[in-house]
Amino acid sequence: MLPVRTAEAPINIALIKYWGKRDAQLNIPTNDSISLTLESLPEESPASLPQPEGGETAMRLRTVTTVRFAAPCDPADAKDDDCLVLNGVASVPNSRIKRCLGYIRSIRTLPRVSIESWNQFPTAAGLASSASGYAALVRALSELVTPPLTEQEASIAARLGSGSACRSLPSGIVRWRAGDLPDGSDSLAATIWPVEHWPELRCLVVVLCGEAKGVSSAEGMHRTVLTSPLFPGRLQTLPYRIDLLGQALEERNFAVLAELVMRESNQLHALCLDSFPPIRYLDQRAYALIDAIHALNATQPRAAYTFDAGPNAFVLCEAPHVDRVRRTIEDALSSSGPLHIIVCRVGAGARIVHSE
Ligand code: PMV
Repeated sequence: MLPVRTAEAPINIALIKYWGKRDAQLNIPTNDSISLTLESLPEESPASLPQPEGGETAMRLRTVTTVRFAAPCDPADAKDDDCLVLNGVASVPNSRIKRCLGYIRSIRTLPRVSIESWNQFPTAAGLASSASGYAALVRALSELVTPPLTEQEASIAARLGSGSACRSLPSGIVRWRAGDLPDGSDSLAATIWPVEHWPELRCLVVVLCGEAKGVSSAEGMHRTVLTSPLFPGRLQTLPYRIDLLGQALEERNFAVLAELVMRESNQLHALCLDSFPPIRYLDQRAYALIDAIHALNATQPRAAYTFDAGPNAFVLCEAPHVDRVRRTIEDALSSSGPLHIIVCRVGAGARIVHSE
């Protein structure tokens, strides 16, 4: 029987952001980034959260992908492309999937494959993440080929699909090193602290908007690198910020971590506004959340927000403060539109869940 591999992969949230490429074809970043691999905790998330069929699994903010060696999708099709089914809909592999598969085929024998991928996100979450998608695909493929891909090879393959996807392969707290080599062979993501390092750390994923972002992250970072006069200054000061963040993580110092994480998010969105034409990912509700978190922190730092290329917020706190932080967010935002909060902890990276 032909082998089949199913893998699942989580989302990740960057504390130090990937924003800028030194090689756009290879997705090699201008700077190191640091992220948390996230695992949702259904028992700490409100029961009111709408879920697609699948019940509890729907809360998991993961992509599940099955790959198998395939007969041609259409025997009359001379191109003999790989087959792709995304959330139940037949689709054509895009250039990023092709780049990812092309790399694997350059180092292993890999005949045509059929790929079936499901995003396990709450309906209308707007969180369907390319990071979990490419990480699940690569983890499944890495065990389909012989010999299996090394961790470094898997990291490169995931990065070629979507830069931040290489950070969804490892567990725990992850650093993606930009590397120096022109071919990107040293631009790799790896765990810097395991899941158990900071068991109390939580991330509330605050879903404010289910709509796709207007400017893709690829276009946004390209525009920033080309047009933002502030961008070179960011690259100069980042190594210092990364050192400080590393120290805060090492010492599990939430107050220091919180300030660094919020400043980093604010800098990303300042760079977006400094790009020309300007890019805006945050909206009024995102700014209301920012104000509410600063008000909450007035006496003692309890929470830290961070935003990627969209208005959905990721709010860090420690376990004893989850309820208070959640109430703060609900008080600030529930009157201005739908709001879903999913509580996560730092968790496991991509893994094989089924083999035949
Ligand atoms: O991996 P991409 O191309 O979707 O870029 C991700 C960029 C940010 O999410 C905004 C930042 C990050 O480091 O994840």
